[in-house]
Amino acid sequence: MKGPDLLADRGLSELRREFKGERGDLIPVLQKVQEIHGYLRPEAIQSVSRWLKISENEIFGVATFYAQFRFHPPGRHHLRICLGTACHVRGGEQILLTAQERLGVATGETTGDGEYDLDRVACLGCCALAPVVAVDEKVHSQMSVLKIQGILDGHKKT
Ligand code: FES
Repeated sequence: MKGPDLLADRGLSELRREFKGERGDLIPVLQKVQEIHGYLRPEAIQSVSRWLKISENEIFGVATFYAQFRFHPPGRHHLRICLGTACHVRGGEQILLTAQERLGVATGETTGDGEYDLDRVACLGCCALAPVVAVDEKVHSQMSVLKIQGILDGHKKT
């Protein structure tokens, strides 16, 4: 199989030093690849497949099982809507629906302009401030439909 060896390029060669190259390394290797590139590029999956001797289909099968892996480039801003119990009972679902409608994407997707990717999370660790939304590293507390609309509109103008 031909093609660029991304494990040799783009800073991934250190993976060969860090891992033995065994089947059991698959998940941590994919995590590292995603840490470096921001997502699992098809070329990187091809390289990992050759290195670990695991078919690309099997790697895709494993990676799609875990919500942590992404298959497209991340947006410039990462919007996370909390739907843990505390946030859910205080209207988190409505906030998520509003964000989806405003951005025109489902959870796990990135907007066409590359501005946002949208995820739902189980808990952001500040339940007393529910419902909670995080834009990149900034947590917004006591969120409402109006507030999330304001945040998204504000980001558009900048
Ligand atoms: S449930 Fe939302 S922050 Fe914990």
